[in-house]
Amino acid sequence: MAAESDQNRGLSRRGLLSGIALGAGGLAVGGVTGYAAASEPSIDEASATALGSETVDCFGTHQAGIATPRQAHVTFIGLDLRREVNREALVRMMQLLTDDIVRLTQGRPALADPQPELADVPARLTVTAGFGEGLLTAAGLETKSPYWLTAGLPGFKVDELQPRWSDGDLMLQVAAEDPVTVSHAVRVLLTDARPFAKVRWMQSGFHRPANTAPTSTTGRNLMGQVDGTINPQPGTEDFDQVVWIPADGEPTWLQGGSSVVIRRIEMDLRVWGGMDEMAKEEAIGRRLSDGAPLTGGDEFTAPDFEAVDANGFEVIPATSHMRLAHAQDSTDRVFRRPYNYDDGVDEDGKPEAGLLFTAYMADPDAQFVPIQQRLADADVLNIWTTPIGSALFAIPPGFSEGEYLGQTLLG
Ligand code: HEM
Repeated sequence: MAAESDQNRGLSRRGLLSGIALGAGGLAVGGVTGYAAASEPSIDEASATALGSETVDCFGTHQAGIATPRQAHVTFIGLDLRREVNREALVRMMQLLTDDIVRLTQGRPALADPQPELADVPARLTVTAGFGEGLLTAAGLETKSPYWLTAGLPGFKVDELQPRWSDGDLMLQVAAEDPVTVSHAVRVLLTDARPFAKVRWMQSGFHRPANTAPTSTTGRNLMGQVDGTINPQPGTEDFDQVVWIPADGEPTWLQGGSSVVIRRIEMDLRVWGGMDEMAKEEAIGRRLSDGAPLTGGDEFTAPDFEAVDANGFEVIPATSHMRLAHAQDSTDRVFRRPYNYDDGVDEDGKPEAGLLFTAYMADPDAQFVPIQQRLADADVLNIWTTPIGSALFAIPPGFSEGEYLGQTLLG
């Protein structure tokens, strides 16, 4: 058996693709691998249990799920309010949802929980809520809307947005290290939201779980790139400035809050997969192997945007994603908290996969729009990526015990 497994390991990718080596041998590969996995458990049981019982405090100045280290699984839900919902009804809905959030994030079943047995693995669950312009209108509070929410995001020339992935009156970001925990929390929240709102869209995303790679490793997106290197660091003054609406900011109900842009960006993974390594690296301006800038060093070495090659061309190309996304001044910076998504393939076998680009910032008009404008105009990555969904929400501040989420607006 061992000899057969060694022999199979030596099979070339070309051989397998052309089908020559498949058949009985091909089946044996699965058999051998399955047997080995069963006899050599790779997950440390104690650490797996510890992760499952970890909780993230839902109370505080800011909502949880933003500065919180990114969990492995997420479901974003966009809801449309029912026509008859007014401010009073919104208060009731937010009270119910807040109660669910408090209980579930502590590993306790919600009131009238349909599956209470699923509540005892909180796995660092967080639920973060965002308000769309429609929610403020339903509450009769549109005059309290921040200018950027009233205006909405401008259209970008790369956009091929579909209503089924865009907009919404209320957004819930439900994230945890365990997809069963996320699924259960989503069911509970939707059960309580149903009398007030209808689901407009749901989008699930993922990363490598904490126990499959060292926690210090920056994750990779589905194009294979190291993604998340340059980002404000939670716990720093820099992060606070980029993300939170300050204590003297406008409107007052959003002080301590933020905003989020969620863009569903489809990747043409079949075409991208056929590109050579150099083209892939030049598209970003970083090496695929370790995420280091093309001008050298390691992942965290500062890129040299002035460097030119022997022919006088910029080493980090003018149309590379990194050069164009890089901040031009101290204003145009956001905190990225994206997730991969993979919804299988369409009937032609085309992957329906990509990035749930998620970014938090104090002012999307001043911080997100200029970056996205530069990318829309010139980013070579646009060849393989298409934004098909887009939504913008105001993120109310956090809440304390006895308060409900959104109270600074609705109370
Ligand atoms: C599918 C779409 C996208 C992919 C695959 C992608 C991928 C990447 C990668 C691999 C990096 C380099 C490593 C890093 O610093 O994280 C990067 C950097 C960055 N991206 Fe994206 N990105 C996408 C969309 C966007 C969008 C829509 C924005 C904002 C409008 C954005 C903003 C940024 C920023 C600000 C940086 C850091 C630039 C720097 O200062 O070096 N990205 N992205």
